Amino acid sequence: MERIPEPELMDEPGQAAAYAAADFTAPHTHFVELFRAAFGEVAGVALDLGCGPADVTIRFARDQPRCRVHGVDGAAAMLAHGQEAVRRARLDGRVQLIRGYLPGASLPQARYDAVISNSLLHHLHEPMALWTAVQAHARPGAPILVMDLMRPASRSEAEAMVARYAAGEPPVLQRDFFHSLLAAYRPAEVQAQLAQAGLAHLQVQTVSDRHLVVSGRA
Ligand SMILES: C[S@@+](CC[C@H](N)C(=O)[O-])C[C@H]1O[C@@H](n2cnc3c(N)ncnc32)[C@H](O)[C@@H]1O
Repeated sequence: MERIPEPELMDEPGQAAAYAAADFTAPHTHFVELFRAAFGEVAGVALDLGCGPADVTIRFARDQPRCRVHGVDGAAAMLAHGQEAVRRARLDGRVQLIRGYLPGASLPQARYDAVISNSLLHHLHEPMALWTAVQAHARPGAPILVMDLMRPASRSEAEAMVARYAAGEPPVLQRDFFHSLLAAYRPAEVQAQLAQAGLAHLQVQTVSDRHLVVSGRA
């Protein structure tokens, strides 16, 4: 099945509200566990690219108490939910959210001690936007962990995944999940992107029936 792109920014209020209210405990817990398993406890300032409503940002900050985290996203609607979640989590002192469009977003600092990203890649019309930002902002040796969906073989497989994993979610979220699966990249495509970006040393692994992870050090 050919990739079908979806809109980049999630700036529609209803869409952002549904996404912010959804329960992503399983994949987002998996994300921070994968980071810890690969890199242990890290210290310094981490950058979360495409942080959305900051659920991963907050889970990462809780799991990595010696880190501060800067989350960047281009969608004001998503960041509004993120600001509220950070305040509720009482992490205002360690988590800062920034509105910025990638690549080229203006960030509080040039280089970061870790770079993470979850579910941004499949939104990008030009995937190099993510890898350019990783290259630009990871200090040499910094841990990198990027997780995203993988495109299934067919539309019917994508429909089956929506039924399996999002049956109880509101229709707007089911629709977004379906479109995200159609827009996702395959491991071989990601490997080609990494080679183009000069990041071929990063590892691409399949970690569930619908997720891939890119990890390694800058
Ligand atoms: C599916 S959400 C993922 C949010 C969060 N990382 C998570 O795992 O819950 C993708 C996010 O990427 C943002 N985004 C997409 N393209 C972007 C770009 N070029 N620059 C900045 N943010 C972007 C969207 O606005 C959206 O909030």
